[in-house]
Amino acid sequence: MNNNIESHLSEDRYFSPPAAFSQHARISSMEQYRELHAESINSPETFWAREAEELSWMEPWDKVLEWNAPDAQWFVNAKTNMSYNCLDRHLTSHRRNKAALIWEAESGETETITYAQLHAKVCQFANGLTDLGVQKGDRVLLYMPMIPKAIIAMLACTRIGAVHSIVFGGFSAEAIADRLEDSQAKVIITADGSWRRGKMISLKENVDAALEIYQNIEKVIVCRRTFQPIEMQAGRDMYWADANAGQSTKHDALPLDAEDPMFILYTSGSTGKPKGILHTTGGYMVGTYSTCKYIFDMNDQDVYWCTADIGWITGHSYITYGPLLNGVTQVIYEGAPNFPDFGRFWNIIEKHRVSIFYTAPTAIRAFIKAGDHLPNAHDLSSLRLLGTVGEPINPEAWMWYHQVIGGGRCPIVDTWWQTETGAVMLAPMPGATDIKPGTATMPFFGIDAAILDEDGKECAPNEGGRLVIRKPWPSMLRGIYGDPQRYRDTYWSDYDSYYTAGDGARRDEDGNFWIVGRLDDVLNVSGHRLGTAEIESSLVAHDAVAEAAVVGKPHDIKGQAVVAFAILKSDYTANEELEQALKKHVASTIGALARPDDIYLVPALPKTRSGKIMRRLLKEILATGSVSGNTTTLEDESTVQHLIDTVQHKTNAA
Ligand code: WTA
Repeated sequence: MNNNIESHLSEDRYFSPPAAFSQHARISSMEQYRELHAESINSPETFWAREAEELSWMEPWDKVLEWNAPDAQWFVNAKTNMSYNCLDRHLTSHRRNKAALIWEAESGETETITYAQLHAKVCQFANGLTDLGVQKGDRVLLYMPMIPKAIIAMLACTRIGAVHSIVFGGFSAEAIADRLEDSQAKVIITADGSWRRGKMISLKENVDAALEIYQNIEKVIVCRRTFQPIEMQAGRDMYWADANAGQSTKHDALPLDAEDPMFILYTSGSTGKPKGILHTTGGYMVGTYSTCKYIFDMNDQDVYWCTADIGWITGHSYITYGPLLNGVTQVIYEGAPNFPDFGRFWNIIEKHRVSIFYTAPTAIRAFIKAGDHLPNAHDLSSLRLLGTVGEPINPEAWMWYHQVIGGGRCPIVDTWWQTETGAVMLAPMPGATDIKPGTATMPFFGIDAAILDEDGKECAPNEGGRLVIRKPWPSMLRGIYGDPQRYRDTYWSDYDSYYTAGDGARRDEDGNFWIVGRLDDVLNVSGHRLGTAEIESSLVAHDAVAEAAVVGKPHDIKGQAVVAFAILKSDYTANEELEQALKKHVASTIGALARPDDIYLVPALPKTRSGKIMRRLLKEILATGSVSGNTTTLEDESTVQHLIDTVQHKTNAA
């Protein structure tokens, strides 16, 4: 019985880095990449010590790494402070009066904050938190809009050693209460509300509801953003301005142990209660610094923009921490990508002359659907590098991003990583790597990635298997908060002392890693294990399809049958003929065994709030005709009823 994942989609288009880019890049050839990668794997301590030495430490380490699988300690006994490294370190150089943040409100209003100003605001709030009794190790929950105060709050926490736990502003009161309960937080920082597509979203109201469930909160600090009416509970709730009033704008950052906890971020798997992923100070700092430096090739002239929300790991590593450690200027945007229309991102890039742009495939597919006239109406010539994260990017979406947004001149870094890994693990070196659309290419320095079969044997080229990391890396998670056993069971039990990512992947003949989907989503059709990503990419490569999700449905003979859900581009209409054409297209690009038994042409797919397709819901709808259990992580709950009706309708018609 073959239990490995098969892979049939091949891609032969190659894009070399433009000479003009390579010339100025830190890593400008594959030889240089290979040499440094080999050193980083053979002598990780030498490589990482050199990276770490570019940052400031209050006391040196005795040892770079102490590894007792699965427990790692990096920079043993060293003392440092993340907030110091993001701010104070820049104040004695030309960066002092450089813009750190350019914030664009959904309304279009902007605010620029220099490194010196950001430092003063962070110090002031750190003093305010200290006066409220917040101490090193205390957990502070943030439930905030995308405004500079969110970043100030994060940096103030790390400055005093408080452990932040950010809950994405789209989550419900129950989600807040669960996370409060699990982390035993004592302070909440929130806002009255946030702006989304011109509407006010209540945040404080959700916090109030959560606090009816979890009551051990000492203080709630509330920023004013929307000025909507809110209730303030005397003694417990206070305004941000009052927490800062009279506080000095000077504060000495607390020296923290490299292994002191820095933050918890909850990640919801497809089943079970969310896991509180724990990251610590020193290794996370070095990992986010170093990945920004090499993968985004950041330099002092760049204007960087990552469209994530601080509620996700991308917002932690590649908004607040990595970019500020590197001293770049970055744009942060408060609102929705389609407000007032789908041209908003292109407008922001033009207005602020963004040079590095980092977004998600789900957003790219939505932009493709909205039409090329929107980006074409803007001057995007400031861009020099593009990035993606969060899902496999379908080769056709990659091509569009490359041509329409990047004008054919910008390398694209497809970055594979996870909340758990803290920093990017697989990605091209933009000045060196020849890129095939759709692959996250090769491991970052210090990352020993491999693809193994069920027996732990390394897979042959193009044979699918499980993606593992065989050596510890600085920004790796240090555990699941309060649950060491679950940490071992979830990540370290498939193979002895290797980290298993939960993703299926293959490596092509040139050594590129292709993610074929989450292992939970793998299909088993007549004994063939197929990843969802390839079939979805095949569909998206058809002219008519904007977006697709593929799942398995129980089948008497085949075990599972392939079922596809697809969203059409706006100039196509759903009909029987098109469904047949799409089935044929999949069969001809991948093989007959991947041919979908059914195709549902739908207006929307169920997605999490971070834009990932929830395939388990599609599976459940197909199997049972309904959805049980928790759907609070869905972006738009009305999608589900529509899907149920569509499936029902087709079943009745058949
Ligand atoms: C998926 C986001 C393919 C993958 C940083 C991973 C990707 C999960 C990519 C982690 C990519 C992320 N190509 N798949 N470039 N990036 N993924 O924790 O399945 O929100 O395991 O972290 O997203 O999602 P998370």
